[in-house]
Amino acid sequence: MSQSSLRVLHVAAECHPLLKTGGLADVVGALPHAQRLLGADARILLPGFPAIRQGLPDAQSVAALLPRFGSAGGKLLASTLPDGTPVYVIDVPEAFDRSGNPYADAAGQPYADNARRFAWLGWVAAQMAQGELGPWQPAIVHAHDWHAGLAPAYLAHTPIKGKRAAGSVFTIHNLAYQGVFPASEFAALGLPPASFHLEGLEFYGQISLIKAGLAYCDRITTVSPSYAREILHAEHGCGLDGLLRKREAVLSGILNGVDETQWDPAHDPCLPAHFDAAHPAGKARCKAALQESLGLTVDADALLFGVVSRLTEQKGLTLVLGGADKLLQQGGQLVVLGNGEPTLEAGFLALAAQYPGRVALCTGFDEVLSHRIFAGCEVVLIPSRFEPCGLTQMYGMRYGALPLVRRTGGLADTVVDCSIENLADETASGFVFERFEQADFDAAVRRAYTLHATPARWRAVRRHAMNLHFGWSGPAGRYLALYQYLATA
Ligand code: ADP
Ligand code: GLC
Repeated sequence: MSQSSLRVLHVAAECHPLLKTGGLADVVGALPHAQRLLGADARILLPGFPAIRQGLPDAQSVAALLPRFGSAGGKLLASTLPDGTPVYVIDVPEAFDRSGNPYADAAGQPYADNARRFAWLGWVAAQMAQGELGPWQPAIVHAHDWHAGLAPAYLAHTPIKGKRAAGSVFTIHNLAYQGVFPASEFAALGLPPASFHLEGLEFYGQISLIKAGLAYCDRITTVSPSYAREILHAEHGCGLDGLLRKREAVLSGILNGVDETQWDPAHDPCLPAHFDAAHPAGKARCKAALQESLGLTVDADALLFGVVSRLTEQKGLTLVLGGADKLLQQGGQLVVLGNGEPTLEAGFLALAAQYPGRVALCTGFDEVLSHRIFAGCEVVLIPSRFEPCGLTQMYGMRYGALPLVRRTGGLADTVVDCSIENLADETASGFVFERFEQADFDAAVRRAYTLHATPARWRAVRRHAMNLHFGWSGPAGRYLALYQYLATA
């Protein structure tokens, strides 16, 4: 099979610019297009959440979906993204047409029928591969995260003439989110009873959709080489390290990329001024505009730290709260854009009240503001406890905001610490600390201030960071090589 005819269906719950709650959407919004540029026929399958339906008003019906999983059925729609990537949408209103976010209701409670809702996603992907839904048939089904975990299971359990209809790749974006549901949901999925088993999707007496993906796919990938190693051990294995060790031969890490068309400070329409590594002047204007718009004191000299993050345990933001006094005493400012756990929100709110003009908190999800923060800040803080890949450190580097990160997962694979030797070698691109300890975080903040006190050095590191390219063509090619192997195996 030639690469130009390689038909691959990405199966996921989110896709920028239609719907985004985190980095998964950025990846699904960029990787298929990058693969198309390399000659593959990559397409996307999404659930028909309201934002996705509204973002694709011209979508046309290509097949009927008969009643299943407790819903009356609906239609499979087809449309294209603004970048030309074909996209299929499962229009089953009973399952997907709800207010709230894709996974939980307006009060934050996960929907009780989530197993059946996301069964649609896996099942439609497998049906498409079997040629049951319209003329286009993928040779590879690439399922992302637990939401799509049943796709490999349905493919494995409905072979045609003894063969699976398509090769399958399952990508772990975050092993901590597993799609675990009561065993009573199993019968509704329509899988053979034997799959409710230790070697299948049974997980401590319940069903796990991520385990379905991991157990039945042909290849497992995760979004950085370091995380691929970390999840083989109990500390980061989230109870699945045993299975992952068993499947280690088919597991690999492929680092995410940056969509350099969406994230380009020289042309970004979200920014009040533009800049690049060779012409950084516009960054100072972005900083002043950000300070002014958020009620911070407009001060070109104050080192401006930024956080753009889901506010969850994973992101390690208790270190930012715990280190904030020290950080601010050294003259800096802090802006936080995040939403999530109420206790973290309350912590940053209290900090903003304690330091008016020096700390700003913006809650909610705001794509435009996120771009402005990377452009306006000097440092972006990502002290994660674990981080499968992380995109904000790469966005920060491209926008001249040096990342301050813990050495874990994709953060370890992308940021080079400003140690004396790395500075001398001109490889430094940020500040990296080892242990999840307040003292280590505080010391990294101290290093940021120390480097900033030598402006020529700061500018050199920033220039180097801005010139690093984490584009998608490399990772897109690595996935294609994996598919090619499966398609010819
Ligand atoms: P994760 O997927 O674990 O949340 P990533 O770093 O991979 O972490 O991706 C997060 C994505 O979500 C980035 O595009 C980041 O800019 C964006 N993001 C996170 N929180 C917000 C927010 N409150 N408003 C706007 N964008 C956000
Ligand atoms: C997950 C991870 C994050 C990763 C993103 C995209 O949400 O938490 O580290 O960058 O997926 O792969």
